[in-house]
Amino acid sequence: MVNTKVMLCGIELDNPVIPASGTFGFGYEFAELYDINCLGTFSFKGTTKDPRFGNPTPRIAECESGMINSVGLQNPGVEAVIAEELPKLKKCFSKPVMANVSGFSVEDYAYTCEKLDGQEQIGWLEVNVSCPNVHGGGMSFGTSPEAAAQVTKAVKAVTKKPVIIKLSPNVTDIVSIAKACEDSGADGISLINTLLGMRIDLKTRKPVVANKMGGFSGAAIKPVALRMVYQVSEAVRIPVVGMGGVSNAEDVIEMIMAGATAVEVGAANLVDPFACRDIVENLPKVMEKYGINNLNEIKGCAHNG
Ligand code: SIN
Repeated sequence: MVNTKVMLCGIELDNPVIPASGTFGFGYEFAELYDINCLGTFSFKGTTKDPRFGNPTPRIAECESGMINSVGLQNPGVEAVIAEELPKLKKCFSKPVMANVSGFSVEDYAYTCEKLDGQEQIGWLEVNVSCPNVHGGGMSFGTSPEAAAQVTKAVKAVTKKPVIIKLSPNVTDIVSIAKACEDSGADGISLINTLLGMRIDLKTRKPVVANKMGGFSGAAIKPVALRMVYQVSEAVRIPVVGMGGVSNAEDVIEMIMAGATAVEVGAANLVDPFACRDIVENLPKVMEKYGINNLNEIKGCAHNG
């Protein structure tokens, strides 16, 4: 019997499979389809200080081997997440959940993280400095080492739970940003968020997405994600959560071989709501096929030699 357990920032996961923020709601929506306790954990919808309606529609564009989204951090705001979403989740999920947080100022991030840090259901805070769909926030904090460090320090000053900083691939030097977060006290790094992209409708001669551009995700971005997970895990000592184009158990193993401790699954949940359940079920079989008894024995093995 193979061992799928991994340790993420001091908390043991039954397996490394984590539905990514924005593709799994607040979990209870998927609990109507299957028992979500089979997951390692999941990262809930990006939460901000105030409620947000999100960007104008259309917000989604299909692409070859992927999709573009420009949701714009639609969410009910941190007070409603605590008062309404977390109690609903508690009825169907007994494991620690990952809280995903976005902001428009350093103070916003600190405020929302401090509130969520007080919730016993929450295991980790995933701080998103990489949303490409909003102005004056999100990705603007994740494209410079200084700004990412500022957010990390402010959040760490008001929280006790592990803080994982979610990075953007839309940068020239991902390693310097990851290292700035680590040096500022981050407990982990997750990457990659979406790649800024666009599509144009030949009939209307206009961008498909109302916001013109959006975040590209899906199978097509996996090689970029793997490369960045490899580079960052080589440079930092804190755990790395890999994501980007993961859609099956083989992809999970590939991410771990690149250096990831755990793996998030995003767009695949929107193609097939059972994707993560199936990955969890298939992971032991794929491990057996490749002679892997324990995921820790292959973590970062692609760096050897
Ligand atoms: C969104 O809500 O726009 C997506 C979140 C993200 O890409 O970080």
